[in-house]
Amino acid sequence: MPPSTSSEKASEPKLPQAAFRFRCISCGSVSASAAQDFRCSQCGNLLEITDPSWKSTSLNVTALKSLWRDRRSSNLPLDRSGVWRFRELLPAPQSEQHVITLREGNTPLYDLPQSSRVTGIPHLYAKHQGMNPTGSFKDAGMTVAATFARQAGYRWVACASTGNTSASMAAYAARGGMRSLVLVPEGKISWSKLSQALDYGALTCQLRTDFDGCLRLLQELVRHAPVYQLNSINPFRLEGQKTLAFELLEQLDWQPPDHIIVPGGNLGNSSAIGKALLEMLDLGLIARLPKLSVIQAEGANALVRTLREAGGKHLVSVQAETRATAIRIGNPASWEKAVKVLQATGGACEQVSELEIAEAKAEIGAEGIGCEPASAVTLAGLKKLVKQHFVKQDETVVLVLTGNLLKDPDFTMDFHRGDLFQSTEHEGESVRLNPFRHPPVVLDATLDAVIRTLEQAEKSDPAHSNV
Ligand code: F0G
Repeated sequence: MPPSTSSEKASEPKLPQAAFRFRCISCGSVSASAAQDFRCSQCGNLLEITDPSWKSTSLNVTALKSLWRDRRSSNLPLDRSGVWRFRELLPAPQSEQHVITLREGNTPLYDLPQSSRVTGIPHLYAKHQGMNPTGSFKDAGMTVAATFARQAGYRWVACASTGNTSASMAAYAARGGMRSLVLVPEGKISWSKLSQALDYGALTCQLRTDFDGCLRLLQELVRHAPVYQLNSINPFRLEGQKTLAFELLEQLDWQPPDHIIVPGGNLGNSSAIGKALLEMLDLGLIARLPKLSVIQAEGANALVRTLREAGGKHLVSVQAETRATAIRIGNPASWEKAVKVLQATGGACEQVSELEIAEAKAEIGAEGIGCEPASAVTLAGLKKLVKQHFVKQDETVVLVLTGNLLKDPDFTMDFHRGDLFQSTEHEGESVRLNPFRHPPVVLDATLDAVIRTLEQAEKSDPAHSNV
């Protein structure tokens, strides 16, 4: 097994000199270091990372494109990471020795033939971030932020989470020899994600509150204890998550799609992708901006309401409730960054119902790739944006699938058994989802029973007979 931390140095080019700075997204003040809460010391708002070397005058974009592609055939750990492969546009650690990588990124871009037919969008793709080492897009940000935690000499890293961040953080902390503290809302995250954190050795606290309560507590904690926070308030996380966009554009031969559609929870990912798109445009890596649209669950629609009711000027928080537990967030930390991205790219912000999420998830499952419920809001949202004529038939659309199907087996089992909407206000309407349900059948262990079941299945679904 090759080492998980980058140690080969002989033929590896030196990392660029660390020249990045923290800039406040509100007052614009710039500093060389950030406090433990990653808030501006002048006005308290969020920080972003800038680097004077990310300029077209310092970088030859044609050479960069071929360097990034060549690294795909290299065996050096940094090159094999789909994040560090793009290190010229990332904050540089002091040494490669600090880099913690699990070979994240390099995720597939799939076409979606069945969803194309349903939506009437022939050029429809899914960028599947659920194919990352811990099963979600979080790994792309975590490799960068955990690296800087280790460089700063922290023993403990910590996060509040709806499950995926904690799974990812715990894995990278373990690989980097750090301890991890996880704060999750009790009973509100999937067992699958919780079990990952346990196996990776995290100190896991299930708090009697929601995600927003966990995040509030974490932000207090970092002011009182020497723990390094790895939520997406940490701007290093967003730098790593930018690489989703670099890699996507590389997969599309640098021809920008018309639309990129992402789920919105704490709004870190939409902010990161938007930042990457703007930087790529600035550098001349792409010639025009795709529209970046954010989709939320109706029950966790803080950004939708912030834009509709407050014109994006102040946050309208909500008491969040949705079975898409990954995005069960009512007080998104990065809302201002996301508003800026929507305005800069001309994207839309929509909400979808629990029924629409379940249907879209089943449709993505039927494509043979699957995803977790929070990711399925993208397809559900696309259907709405097509109806509104915001997305047009001849346009190219990329859905960002943020988490793997295996992340939330309870949701999937409840759906197929017909229990998902039992005793809810959607129970009656949910019968329209019956054609998507494939519950397991229990049979006597005889050839006859299996053959009869096969024949019945053939009769009830003749359309599939010659697929
Ligand atoms: N999709 C999945 C699968 C997620 O886990 C999350 C967020 C999102 C979408 C939303 O992304 O917060 O950047 O807008 N999960 C976080 C967590 C909050 O703790 O795992 P966002």
